[in-house]
Parts: sequence; C-alpha cells; structure tokens
Amino acid sequence: MDRIVINGQKKLSGVVHINGAKNAAVAIIPAAIAANGVCVIENLPKIEDVSILADALRSIGMVCEFQDSDSHILRIDSTNLTKYEMTYDLARNMRASYYLLGALLGRFKKAVVPLPGGCNFGARPIDQHIKGFEALGAHIRQEHGMLIAEADRLTGSNIYLDMASVGATINIMIAAVFAEGTTVIENSAKEPHVVDTANFLNMLGANIKGAGTDTIRIQGIHSLHGCEYQIIPDQIEAGTYMIASAITGGDVTIQNIIPKHMDSLSAKLIEMNCIIEEGDDYIKVIGDRPLHGVNIKTMVYPGFPTDLQPQMTALLCCAKGTSVITETVFDNRFQYMTELKRLGCDVTVEGRVAVIEGESCLTGAEVRATDLRAGAALVIAGLAARGTTTISNVKYIDRGYENIESKLKDLGADVSRITVPDDVRG
Ligand code: EPU
Repeated sequence: MDRIVINGQKKLSGVVHINGAKNAAVAIIPAAIAANGVCVIENLPKIEDVSILADALRSIGMVCEFQDSDSHILRIDSTNLTKYEMTYDLARNMRASYYLLGALLGRFKKAVVPLPGGCNFGARPIDQHIKGFEALGAHIRQEHGMLIAEADRLTGSNIYLDMASVGATINIMIAAVFAEGTTVIENSAKEPHVVDTANFLNMLGANIKGAGTDTIRIQGIHSLHGCEYQIIPDQIEAGTYMIASAITGGDVTIQNIIPKHMDSLSAKLIEMNCIIEEGDDYIKVIGDRPLHGVNIKTMVYPGFPTDLQPQMTALLCCAKGTSVITETVFDNRFQYMTELKRLGCDVTVEGRVAVIEGESCLTGAEVRATDLRAGAALVIAGLAARGTTTISNVKYIDRGYENIESKLKDLGADVSRITVPDDVRG
C-alpha cells in the first residue's frame, strides 16, 4: 500500500504538463464498443480507471492494446465483439462502468453490467440513465448486483433530465446513436467531456448536434466505423495544479490545457488576489500576494466544478477572512473535512454549506484520502503545511492523477511515495 509523504512550505515554480481528461477517457473508451472497426484513442491519462476499463473491454473479447510505453495511446478493435455481459469484479469498482450499459445496449440491444461503484459521497443514483434507456424502448432490471438491459429495438424519443447529469447525458447519447429516428435530450449536461464524447461519436459517423448546450439531438444511424481521436486535457487536473501554485505562493505554468474550461476557477483565483496569465494552451498562476477568502457555489458547467471544491477548501483555509462554500451538485461531499481538520483547517460544515475561517496555520499530520478529489485536497494542504504530511489510501489519488508526485517534485515540492508493507497498513 502506497503513501505520499510531503514536507511542506516549498514554493512551486516551473511548468506542468496536463494529461488527457479522466472523465472523457472513461466515457470514450466504452463508447468505442459502438464502432465496428478500429479506434485509436490518444492523449489518455495513465491512471487506474483507464486500465480497469481496458481490462473490462478485453474481458468481453475486444482487442485493446496500448500502443506506447507510457500507455497514452489505446488501440481498440471491436469488430468481432459478440459478448454483451461484463464480469462483476472488473467493472464494479468504478462509477464509469455505467457507460458500458449504454454502449452495449446500443450495439447489441442487450447488456449485463455490474451496478456502478466509484467515489462515495452520498447516494449516487442512476435513475436518469434508466429513464433515458426506457424512453428509448429498453427494459431494465437489477439481479444480484448486476443491471440487465434489453430491447427488441431502440427508438428515438424526447427525454427531459430532472437534473443536468453528466453521466446520464453521455450514457443516453451513446445508446441513442443506434436508436431509430431522433432522440432529443433536454436539460443535458454541458461539461467539456460531454462535448468530447459527442465529438468522438461523430468522428465514428454518428449524427449528434448540440453537445455543450442544454439540448442535444441525436439522429440514429445503423453502424459506425473506427477513427483516430485525441482526448481533451483534464480540466480538474489543471485546476488542481493551479490551486497548488496559489497555496504555495508559487509561479506555475499549467500547460496543454483549454483555458476556457478553467474560467470559473481563474475568476475565483483572481478574486482571491492571484495573478493569472492566459495563453492559447496555458495558464500561469502566481500566488505571491496576500490571498483573501471568497464564497463559492459548485454548479454544473460552466459553473464552479464540484470536482475542485475540496482542493479549493484547502486553499481557502490559508486565505485571509471567512469563506463560504456551498455544494449544490452532491448531497454529501464534505466527508473529507475530518482529515483536513487534522492538518489544522478551521471549517464548520452544516448540510451542504462549509464555513472556512482562513489564515489557519497548517501543520503536517498523518491523514487518509477518502476519495479522489479529497485526496488531492490533502496533497494541496500538505504542500502548504509546516512539517511532514503522510497521506494513506493513495489508490484513490491514482484513480485520477498521473504521476502526481513526480509532477510536483519537478515543480520543486518535497514529495515522495513510499510503499508500506502489508503488516503495518493503517
Ligand atoms: N443524479 C441523480 N440521478 C442520476 C444521475 C445523477 O440523482 O441518474 C444526481 C447525482 O446523485 C448528483 C448529481 O445528479 O447529485 C450529478 O451527478 P452526475 O450524474 O452529473 O455525476 P456522475 O456522472 O455520477 C460525473 C463525474 C464526477 C463529477 C460529476 C459532476 C465521471 C465518471 N464522473 O459523475 O467526477 O463529480 O460528474 O460533474 O464522469 C471525479 O472526477 O472525481 C468525479 C467524481
């Protein structure tokens, strides 16, 4: 079991290269099931979730090979795919296993996949995905931890989502590619990875219009071919390094990004008194001036992303004054506060609202990542803390960040990874 050890209070400086987007990758890899041909997917992040998905696709007979030593390019051949049933163990631990349902249902009109797992921050229902599949003509049932979807045929339909769910929008879009006629998804999510998945499907020959707005129209087609596709940069990885620069009073250029995707974070960092310089594919964050607290409300895109809320909490703990964070996307995404408090953060949580008293003097401690972004928040707090912070449960961080400790080391952080023998696991 690995741990990340940080000796804090080192200013970060230099350039960090951002990898491909995790949440686009975990949608686009399953979406390749829909292609009757070879897909070469480039700019994949080398993270746990991608390798789990590649294993899941191999288990149903797809040819899935990484083309480079760093596992950033995946060649997927689904030409001879005949199986529509996933094994329980392979896909159950990740949230994105739900995309296998949409992809297999679209291609075979039948799918058997495990109920989704993933980071635990309260109930994460998939009723909107199921409502969408049923509207297309599928019957869905649950048996022994597996979801079974079946349809004689899929027919285009008008689907209004009760909330702008990223997962439901993408999943319905993938399945509807093969539905006869037109499917309209109203109140659809607009996140960059929704658009990226639609662009990928269109490159395969699909006819999807409106991705990135709240109405997506899909004209059904009969078959898709292969393609080469490059995944967009990871908005959340980029944001995590922007916040890391700010908390250390650093001067870091975050490169290979789409600055527009960072607007909500850049605006808040500017409001806090950071200097932000923006180019075509980079943002530089200079945090050497005194920072003030701000109020944040997480929202669907283009609002402030819930996936940067924990990292931002760590930063606000070090800023001057009181800040209020309101979480509107998930009902229970403040579970990590107990760990952050161990480092000295002064936070009070009441339901979906966290009140942060700033200028906390953070001190290193032993802490535990409770989920992916909570783990990233602990890394950020550890970078600012006096003394040594040791983070366990690093497997969560590895689900979403490629080479986090070597990237931070290159920026000047004193960070290392240690492997703890089984008998001293905490
Ligand atoms: N919701 C429902 N019913 C549904 C679907 C969603 O009630 O059928 C609720 C959820 O419980 C939640 C809200 O709607 O309260 C939004 O959920 P959404 O479906 O948008 O989230 P998701 O698809 O489960 C994806 C990302 C998350 C990210 C959210 C919000 C993937 C694999 N996961 O989750 O990413 O937080 O969108 O942007 O794309 C992460 O990367 O750390 C992460 C958790």
